[in-house]
Amino acid sequence: MNKPLRIALTKGRLEKDTVGLLEKIGYDCTAIREKGRKLILPVPDGNLEVVLAKANDVITYVEHGVCDMGVVGKDTIQEMQGKFYELVDLGFGRCRFALATKKGQSFYGGYNVKTLATKYPNITRKHFESKGMDVDIIKIEGSVELAPLLELADGIVDIVETGTTLKENGLEIIEDNICPISARLIVNTVSMKMRQSEIENFVTLVEKNL
Ligand code: PRP
Repeated sequence: MNKPLRIALTKGRLEKDTVGLLEKIGYDCTAIREKGRKLILPVPDGNLEVVLAKANDVITYVEHGVCDMGVVGKDTIQEMQGKFYELVDLGFGRCRFALATKKGQSFYGGYNVKTLATKYPNITRKHFESKGMDVDIIKIEGSVELAPLLELADGIVDIVETGTTLKENGLEIIEDNICPISARLIVNTVSMKMRQSEIENFVTLVEKNL
């Protein structure tokens, strides 16, 4: 038997739905469900090996070919770019990018350059470039909602799913649906050539079970 196909899964937000999909296909995901602190997990009899990683790292591992495939959000794909194939829109992990400020605060208008906090500086830069608007961007690693509350920024560009985080922190959306997002299956370009039939079989199983 060939060495297993290795797939990197994004930890956290997408993890439950991805494991659900693998189980629907028929893979035994006991090792993933009972992983503890283990990071590389076998899927018995599936000729598949699962790596759990942060979203940005999923792309890094797939790009470098140490993982053949990956499941990652379109938000991270757009922010990181990179050379790989994006084969399937998995349909889950749906959310969108939005611009939000503290409730009642104006953003557009006025002459001063606005400051935006975001985990996605490239996406934010492109969005405001396309409007011909000059903004200062500050990269934040987590809970970007804090930045306007602490008065570090005039607003944030972030992913919004239910809107609960914004609501509970007194922020409101002033520009919605900047771009729709969902989880994608990505594939390393060399793996796609070298292990084409195995990957195609996997993709067929995925598509049948969405
Ligand atoms: C994301 C995002 C928001 C929140 C939005 O963070 O950055 O903070 O989810 O979701 P909601 O609209 O359903 O409230 P995530 O939970 O992915 O954690 P992170 O800050 O560690 O990236």
